[in-house]
Amino acid sequence: MSVAIRGDIIHFTANPFTTNEEQSLQIFESGMLIIEEGRIRQVGFASDLEHLLPPDNVVHDYSGHLILPGFIDTHLHYPQTDVIASYGKQLLEWLQTYTFPCEGRFDDPEYAENVADFFLDELLRNGTTTAQVMSTSHQQSAELFFQKSLARNLRMITGKTMMDRNAPDYLLDTPDSGYEQSLELIERWHGRNRLSYAVSPRFAVTSGEEQLKRTAELMEFRPGLYLQTHLSENRDEIKLVAELFPWSKNYLDVYDHFGLVRERATFAHSIHLPEENYRLLSEKDAAISFCPTSNLFIGSGLFDFDSTIRHNVSLGMGTDIGGGTSFSMLKTLGEAYKVLQLREQTLSPLKAFYLVTLGGAEALCLDDKIGSFQPGKEADFVVLNTNATPLIQRRMEMSDSLIDKLFILMTMGDDRSIEATFIMGNRQYEKTS
Ligand code: GUN
Ligand code: ZN
Repeated sequence: MSVAIRGDIIHFTANPFTTNEEQSLQIFESGMLIIEEGRIRQVGFASDLEHLLPPDNVVHDYSGHLILPGFIDTHLHYPQTDVIASYGKQLLEWLQTYTFPCEGRFDDPEYAENVADFFLDELLRNGTTTAQVMSTSHQQSAELFFQKSLARNLRMITGKTMMDRNAPDYLLDTPDSGYEQSLELIERWHGRNRLSYAVSPRFAVTSGEEQLKRTAELMEFRPGLYLQTHLSENRDEIKLVAELFPWSKNYLDVYDHFGLVRERATFAHSIHLPEENYRLLSEKDAAISFCPTSNLFIGSGLFDFDSTIRHNVSLGMGTDIGGGTSFSMLKTLGEAYKVLQLREQTLSPLKAFYLVTLGGAEALCLDDKIGSFQPGKEADFVVLNTNATPLIQRRMEMSDSLIDKLFILMTMGDDRSIEATFIMGNRQYEKTS
């Protein structure tokens, strides 16, 4: 059976960082998406396509609303849902005071299940349809997350966090147990339905040399495995890594030494980097996740967007829940804009929306499957209300260009702007009231 969606459709067909921005996207005002068996069959103007619809076709009419590919969050922690808004600490103390104790609760499967359900519902309420997610060091935390994602038919990436030192005993694994448990999860979940596994050493502070070595071995186990970790987020963290690995030239060199700087590896934060690190990340096709609400909230620093782009490093956006303060990719883009303002850099609305759709898909090597409405791709998309509040409506009335509207949305919008979220052509979230 086919499904058709009406609305003002926007998607990227090229990279606005390397082509003329306004030629990087297609806009179909009064457009139509036709979906068959969960995949895009056609996209265009409704007037051109409606005569093609079979009589039993289901039509969702979102005329007057914007329709974009589902948002992609390249870095966040589902077990930190209850850590959001924890007061007064910077990274290392924040981890010890709030985050590790909260992650410790994931030895209780009932709590883990409750959080996983809430978290996935919250992603959909915010229009996020794909995410690269850290679980805890408990094998069952990743197991449950995969189960819940499978039940919702979501394209998700996660992995059991590996950490064998410098954290409370109740969270520590060992190089052997971290390896074995990761392997079991890879065998059970990697490539099943829409799910992929990310080998997940937490960061160089909590993984010793043996664990980092085993991380590289795990990456060879199956094609298409991801690697997710943290890099150069906070000055004290960077100092500690230099003490823990006295032979290293810099923080990224630790990961590189063990062969972890590679395609499908995402380095969250990457704020305080020497120039040569951008070159290495670019050469090795690794990606950075820029997490502005977290970087501001934990006081980590101002991300150097221009250096990242100048070196052609693959880049996605991340909420970094619960260092980050919002599940909303709209809010995340709005905060990214402010971070860049403080560096006298800028983020145009088209580049911003590219980063949370096709750009995010490219950063995760998923651009053959999601991120745009190219026929054949999976039909995950979001319906945006451009008049979600009286103030936004008032401001929108003064705008006569689509680009301006997108900028207003990223500056003022949040979960209230999300009218509906579709997964493989099925509506899985619909705003009430
Ligand atoms: N570095 C290592 N672990 C974490 C984490 O959980 N959150 C953030 N923001 N940084 C980290
Ligand atoms: Zn993180």
